[in-house]
Amino acid sequence: MIVPADRLHTVEEYYFSKKLREVNLLKASGKPVINLGIGSPDLQPPQRVIDAINSSLTDRNAHKYQSYQGLPELREAMAAFYREQFRVSLSPSTEILPLMGSKEGIMHISMAYLNPGDEVLIPNPGYPTYQAVAKLVGATPVLYELTEENCWLPDMEALKQLDLSKVKLMWINYPHMPTGAHATHTFFMDLVALAKDNDILIVNDNPYSFILNDKPTSLLDIKGAKEVSLELNSLSKTFNMAGWRVGMVLGDYKHINNILKVKSNMDSGMFYGIQKGAVEALNCSEMWFISLNSVYEQRRKLVWELAEALNCTFDKKASGMFVWAKLPPMVKAEEFIEVLLKNNHIFIAPGTIFGTKGEGYVRFSLCAPTEDIEEAIARIR
Ligand SMILES: Cc1ncc(COP(=O)(O)O)c(C=O)c1O
Repeated sequence: MIVPADRLHTVEEYYFSKKLREVNLLKASGKPVINLGIGSPDLQPPQRVIDAINSSLTDRNAHKYQSYQGLPELREAMAAFYREQFRVSLSPSTEILPLMGSKEGIMHISMAYLNPGDEVLIPNPGYPTYQAVAKLVGATPVLYELTEENCWLPDMEALKQLDLSKVKLMWINYPHMPTGAHATHTFFMDLVALAKDNDILIVNDNPYSFILNDKPTSLLDIKGAKEVSLELNSLSKTFNMAGWRVGMVLGDYKHINNILKVKSNMDSGMFYGIQKGAVEALNCSEMWFISLNSVYEQRRKLVWELAEALNCTFDKKASGMFVWAKLPPMVKAEEFIEVLLKNNHIFIAPGTIFGTKGEGYVRFSLCAPTEDIEEAIARIR
């Protein structure tokens, strides 16, 4: 018998990978399922991005292996984007590494920094990949709780009380998925101080900064942060390019070099046309963000109506492409979403897939046209 590696026992197939099979089976059997579960942008990327990939295909260099560090012009566009949007100055040649999506960066960073037995601080609720990857590399996840009472920020005093001697890495993600919460400047400053005191690498996973958010912030904007932190960013949500797989990791050259050691042994560069398209996306004007957000704003209003019709409550100041809503007391998230799927053919995500602290909450995605959301409201009413 061919036995898989022990590490496979530490993880399960991703929730959406399983659940979407079920949703697709329902659809195939004729059920008109409205999918408000997954955060995959249904809108088109900017036209100039599509034009750029099209015209790149006849370039003589288009079909060769590409540089492990990406095209210089892509890194320059990423540097300019960070400078303009976040006031953060980074060297395009040493402090930026293009990635094939930020999700792969979570694995690369973990492989570059974690030994078996090292501890990793992970938000609960939070993006499930942080924990899965920590386990795959043999590290130990240490969950820190986020609560509505504390505006979904970590309790810094509680963190300081922990034995941090084995903690090597801490994941944060602001604006936060799934709650849409924002980080404050003070919180970022406290965190950088904690990281310095305890030799912890803090990574801010920042793919939602430009969706329904007035003040995009970067952890790298904090004085002295670069030494002890990295930031991941992505074009997936900002430019509706989730399937393109373009992200980036940014920070001090020493960290970027360590990540490059891993990454250059795992892939052989990003397709040329994708890089050309990504450059165009990053050069978009403010008009892009205004028009993108006007669509999400309309959708969000309707999702708020839907959540109210389901007797849920929510924070109107939250950011990102989801509405995180609190269920009525005593209602269990997974039971709630199953009933909604069975009776009304509406699929939303249960908060529990993001951790135990997601119990009692559900997440509505804004990646569906207004007609679908209106139809969902009609079904509930
Ligand atoms: C918090 C968070 N980080 C990272 C990702 C991955 O994004 P990318 O498409 O850049 O890999 C997602 C995607 O849903 C996410 O929600």
